Amino acid sequence: MYGLTDKRVVFVFGKGGVGKSAISAALGLAAAQERGRKVLIAEMNGAESMSTLFGTPPVGYAGRPLRGRLHGMTISPGAATEEYLVRMLRFRLLYETVFRNRFIAPLMDGVLGLSDLISMGKVLDLEWTRDDGSFGPEAQGPHRWDLVVVDGPATGHGLSMLRSPQSMMDLAKVGPLFQNARDIRDLVADRSRFAVVLVTLAEDMPVSECLQAVEALGGDVDVEIAAIVVNSVPPPLFEDKEAEALWSDIREAGVLLGGRAARAINDGERTLAERRRAEAQVARLRAAVDVPVFEIPRLPTRDLATPEIEVLAGALGATA
Ligand SMILES: Nc1ncnc2c1ncn2[C@@H]1O[C@H](COP(=O)(O)OP(=O)(O)OP(=O)(O)O)[C@@H](O)[C@H]1O
Ligand SMILES: [Mg+2]
Repeated sequence: MYGLTDKRVVFVFGKGGVGKSAISAALGLAAAQERGRKVLIAEMNGAESMSTLFGTPPVGYAGRPLRGRLHGMTISPGAATEEYLVRMLRFRLLYETVFRNRFIAPLMDGVLGLSDLISMGKVLDLEWTRDDGSFGPEAQGPHRWDLVVVDGPATGHGLSMLRSPQSMMDLAKVGPLFQNARDIRDLVADRSRFAVVLVTLAEDMPVSECLQAVEALGGDVDVEIAAIVVNSVPPPLFEDKEAEALWSDIREAGVLLGGRAARAINDGERTLAERRRAEAQVARLRAAVDVPVFEIPRLPTRDLATPEIEVLAGALGATA
């Protein structure tokens, strides 16, 4: 999956709790460590997952280094909106009176989907940013970031974010918002610069949600789905087929012996069944989509920190 690191922006999203942050961290770390890229992980849901995973102080909107060439920041819609509008309007007072107004703010967010668009606009700004801090379509010089990994929101919200530029273009037709939206849409649609990675678990509901997302993206968003990552796949009970073939004998013996042996057999049966269910879900996914599917193993602990992220980064690298 390290081929992905040749993109400029990778937008990672999927069902809540499936491991979007863990996979974003692993991808970012792999790109920085294995590929020597200057990488920024931009968190969309403000959970400060990266500072937790890498054991740093909160990264905030200003961002901070996580490890070597790997940096992190959070794109909070509030901070991004303020930055954008102050720049656009060049007049903070107007921002204060118009956009902080308690009647207008919900309207702007709800009706126009403006905060999604502005968060995506921040992603474009990050992609544009040069070493000297300048950004925009005309900015020159080496890029500040080789790769921006977006640790995106849950599926439905991610879809509306990816749709937000086209929605605005349909609504605005002309003017600065239309221009901005078009620049963002052009980034999202550019296969050399932008790709989506969907994360799921090898379970029924997350796989269904993932399939719905693939269908929705294929329907109305011009974007490359570069990969589906099936995270936390339970490891196989047996290393090889020969050992597996012996299982029925072992099971019989264990059941006959009773006690601890029988309990161990029960555990084994459960693990086997879980693995088979997971394999069936991965097979269902592979049969339904024309997108590369990568399996990442479930680690022995759910309490992930940098060493575990390194293991996950290695696992991503081991995939095609
Ligand atoms: N491969 C894995 N093996 C073991 N535990 C994992 C693995 N991937 C993620 N986890 C654990 O699963 C939980 C959910 O992961 P994570 O926070 O990355 O999900 P998320 O999709 O970002 O969640 P949210 O929707 O809340 O942002 C965390 O406790 C994480 O440490
Ligand atoms: Mg997360």
